[in-house]
Amino acid sequence: MSETLRVHAPGRVNLIGEHTDYTGGLVFPMAIDRGTTLTYTAADGVIELTSDGAPGALSISLPFDGEPNTVEPHWGSYIAAMSAELGATQGLRGHIVSDIPAGAGLSSSAALECAIGLALGFDGTPLELSQAAQRAEHRATGVPTGIMDQLSIAAGVAGHATLIDCHGLSVTPHVVPDDIDVVVKFIAHRTLEGSEYADRVAECARAEDKIGPLRLATLDDVGRITEDIARRRARHVINENQRVRDFAAALAGGDYVEAGRIMTEGHASLRDDFDVSTPQMDDAVDRLNAIPGVFGTRMTGGGFGGCIVAICQPGALTDGWVVSPSAGARRVH
Ligand code: GLA
Repeated sequence: MSETLRVHAPGRVNLIGEHTDYTGGLVFPMAIDRGTTLTYTAADGVIELTSDGAPGALSISLPFDGEPNTVEPHWGSYIAAMSAELGATQGLRGHIVSDIPAGAGLSSSAALECAIGLALGFDGTPLELSQAAQRAEHRATGVPTGIMDQLSIAAGVAGHATLIDCHGLSVTPHVVPDDIDVVVKFIAHRTLEGSEYADRVAECARAEDKIGPLRLATLDDVGRITEDIARRRARHVINENQRVRDFAAALAGGDYVEAGRIMTEGHASLRDDFDVSTPQMDDAVDRLNAIPGVFGTRMTGGGFGGCIVAICQPGALTDGWVVSPSAGARRVH
């Protein structure tokens, strides 16, 4: 009988740096202690999987050369896309257990892609794993997402968030102090497929046509964009890149009031300049910020629903998940 093996890939929460990755900007996510675990045995030429969190059984033949987004059940499309990306012929039979809700902005799909990549024997660097997983995400959904989710999940470091430069693809771990809580609160299900995510990517590209790469542009440059939407999108991205630098410095200096203020300011920018928040998320952010001991709150992930994230004094928030910074995708022995 073949050996039973296990891989685990965490979800991620982004602390600051939203909608900056696809213009080569800065992001500051952390891999969390919630994730996707796949237990499996090797199987020749097939992938056969069930999942505790989603109905249906997946059965695909390898090498997979079909259209991933027609695969049923739907969660299998990420798996089919990743196996196609890797050109896998050696498959597996197993079961998935996950405690990251799908469609919550905590990167359940990126976790699934990274987990299946490792289970299919991928043996490159975390960056290479994340790039294959990002291409798989594009194949499966058609949404032109950036590298943040997959790279923060592949390269996570226990006890740390990661400052990622999405142009140079460098990953710099930053300690997350243990005298604050990071709290994630689920607000509403959503999917980026069919959302305005792709429009935002196109709007940023329009801004770049006018003033060049947003990662290098200044607020003075933004003044030269005459179109209101492109101008506001560019303003968000430029301010958000600076917020990532300032947030990292505030956290390192123990200035949690300032770090929280930056998060809340980032939320306002996503709401007003980037138009990716919802009234329900805005209300939830305001409610959390009014609670004593909360330093700051923002929506996290692509938006249009999903989760909000707060930093606060330990124990100040009891409604939500206190998450801890965790190691990245890995084989479990
Ligand atoms: C989604 C995408 C990421 C990133 C965020 C917004 O999570 O997958 O690449 O663009 O939205 O910051």
